[in-house]
Amino acid sequence: MKILVTGGLGFIGSHTVVELQNKGYEVVIIDNCSNSSPDVIKGICEITGKDLVFEKFDLREKDKVQEFFKRHNDIEGVIHFAASKAVGESVEKPLLYYENNLSTLVYILQQLADKASASFIFSSSCTVYGQADELPITENAPVKTAESPYGNTKQIGEEIIRDTCKVHPALKAIALRYFNPIGAHPSAEIGELPIGVPQNLIPFITQTAIGLREQLSVFGDDYPTSDGTCIRDYIHVVDLAKAHVVALQRLLEGKNASNYEVFNVGTGTGSSVLEVIQSFEKVSKEKLNYKIVERREGDITAAYADTTKANNELGWKAKSSLDDSLTSAWKWEQKVRS
Ligand code: WQD
Repeated sequence: MKILVTGGLGFIGSHTVVELQNKGYEVVIIDNCSNSSPDVIKGICEITGKDLVFEKFDLREKDKVQEFFKRHNDIEGVIHFAASKAVGESVEKPLLYYENNLSTLVYILQQLADKASASFIFSSSCTVYGQADELPITENAPVKTAESPYGNTKQIGEEIIRDTCKVHPALKAIALRYFNPIGAHPSAEIGELPIGVPQNLIPFITQTAIGLREQLSVFGDDYPTSDGTCIRDYIHVVDLAKAHVVALQRLLEGKNASNYEVFNVGTGTGSSVLEVIQSFEKVSKEKLNYKIVERREGDITAAYADTTKANNELGWKAKSSLDDSLTSAWKWEQKVRS
């Protein structure tokens, strides 16, 4: 069975391709390599020993999307990762984000909408909740006004899918709202490859420990939490990848409760920034050079998932601990810099 993975050379996309191939799916990747490299294919093949089809083009080119689906008219499912995802950049370049993240989604859905049957998995984010009023966060928590154009593209993207599924009953979709994906494949053949200075905590930690960065800045320790630093739900990227395969299988096997569903994908456990640092120092046996600085604009105090729905309806649960995830992140950083 042939599955299209857009953005399949990216961090979460590449790990999901591995899990799809492990389950015997035939994978086609579309990626414009704006935030990834074709070298990732070698890493994927090293892990699975299987071939895949890779086509490099930009999903903003509508005619190329149409032509692709004419050639691959046997695609049964799509997992859509391709999008720009830097929160800060989205504030400076909103039109780039609205065009790239939304026009590409529309072009893909247009190709699926009239198929006899199609399954679609959308890469969404817990960012749609903003600072939730209640923790842990369930899928019924209200979607709040987005803090950034990036977050808004996830909210609008979900609405586009919901409205399309309403009038195309043969199109089945699931939006997965990720919490904080971290770590790398245990083989260290694939992992996170941030371009330039990492915006996210874990790659900044590992790059500081390896000597690429001078010092980690901890953005604030005056939040109303146990140690004053922000709390997040850090989920191993392989656990997250497996959730995509389980969600896709739910749709392909017709086990979905409706033709548009939403699931939170996290561990259900919150960790503060200082707890992450302590865990990293424990597993790496490295002393991390960090300092407390002022808060980062737009950060929320705490977010971690209520995973009941994914556990019960998807039959999926994250297996890796924070220590496991940071161990894999450190092993990957050491491999990349070796
Ligand atoms: C985590 C915590 C920072 C860097 C973002 C997006 C979200 C998703 C995941 C795409 C925060 C602190 C960070 C640093 C720090 N991306 N931090 N020093 O902001 O929770 O989520 O990435 O889907 O949509 O919003 O992740 O890793 O940037 O920050 O102290 O150098 O680490 O303040 O508390 P975030 P993050």
